[in-house]
Amino acid sequence: MVKIKRTVKELDPYIPGRSNEDLARVYGLDPDNIIRMGSNENPLGPSPQAIETLKKSLHLINTYPESNIDDLKAKIASYARVNSEKIIVGGDGADEILDVLAKTLIEPGDEYIVHPPSYMYYEFTFGIHGATPVYARWNVEENRLDVNSVLNAISAKTKVIFLCTPNNPTGGLIEKKDIQTILESTDALVVVDEAYWEFSGENNVELLDEYENLFILRTFSKVMGLAGMRIGYGIGQEKLIEYMHRVKPVFSLIKLSHIAASATLDDLNYLKESTKLSIESREFLYEQMSKFPELRVFKSFANYILVEIRNTGMKSKQMTEKLMENGIIVRDCSSFRGLDDHWIRVSVATIEEDEKFIDVLKNILSDQQGISND
Ligand SMILES: Cc1ncc(COP(=O)(O)O)c(C=O)c1O
Repeated sequence: MVKIKRTVKELDPYIPGRSNEDLARVYGLDPDNIIRMGSNENPLGPSPQAIETLKKSLHLINTYPESNIDDLKAKIASYARVNSEKIIVGGDGADEILDVLAKTLIEPGDEYIVHPPSYMYYEFTFGIHGATPVYARWNVEENRLDVNSVLNAISAKTKVIFLCTPNNPTGGLIEKKDIQTILESTDALVVVDEAYWEFSGENNVELLDEYENLFILRTFSKVMGLAGMRIGYGIGQEKLIEYMHRVKPVFSLIKLSHIAASATLDDLNYLKESTKLSIESREFLYEQMSKFPELRVFKSFANYILVEIRNTGMKSKQMTEKLMENGIIVRDCSSFRGLDDHWIRVSVATIEEDEKFIDVLKNILSDQQGISND
């Protein structure tokens, strides 16, 4: 057997959401009727303009993608209100930007700070590159960042600090003044993950003018409805972006993704509608789920809601399986560091799908009550 790299041998595999086909096979369901509320996707579907433009571009796939994507960078820059030299675009979503960051920055012995429970991919990617995680804390009870836990975790070895706002999976926001406090306390790169910022209306781009060590991470997978096209971007200081371009795979952003991203940014009606519908669904789900006394439902600024199900007497695995038997996927949060096996995350869907979910949930909870009272 060849000798495998230590960091890869020790790696915990990343657990992504499951596909419709996979679940349809296991639970005997029709894949087209599965309700997806597990991966924080966009229930509206992609932009119609993006679909039309893609259809007209399919004949282009025999040629390599553009290595010069200045036109897309310019559109993203105008959307984000920064200059183009501050932008890097990734072709495996924001996840690729994380990988490129690690390739650019990490050397043996480096540490990075995360605040569990949060997005698990930070640990997955940075682990491969041999960096050591240091754990700060997200205060789940109050759904806010424990800022002191971040400040206390900083050492001479800290290379990167991850701050996720709105935080996945809890949905809480990090206050701008807390981000500033952290930026001022370190020379390490502070990566503010704004994958869901559009659903909160709050972002931190203006801090880039003031702080050299800020990097903002974003994606086309959420409000832009293009999770399957794998497009993400980073916004940082020009010098860092230039170094990152040296290690980024040249053709990772495929031509169809380039075209879809560009068309979506032009489709202002879609972007408005997409934000509105997701927020409506989130508030509807919050209101409806809050009516079940055995659930603890967390206020969210993103397109998903964290729910503690401890008082139902069920574990997350049991609850997610019962929902799947009814064709509904939600996220079992037991694989998130910092949460035990009594949490689920419910992503927004169409209001019709939300209603179906609430009905199914009601039945599951009343069956469970019956069992508990027996
Ligand atoms: C907080 C956060 N950051 C980044 C990503 C990665 O997004 P992408 O699909 O662009 O790789 C996700 C995806 O769910 C996320 O939840």
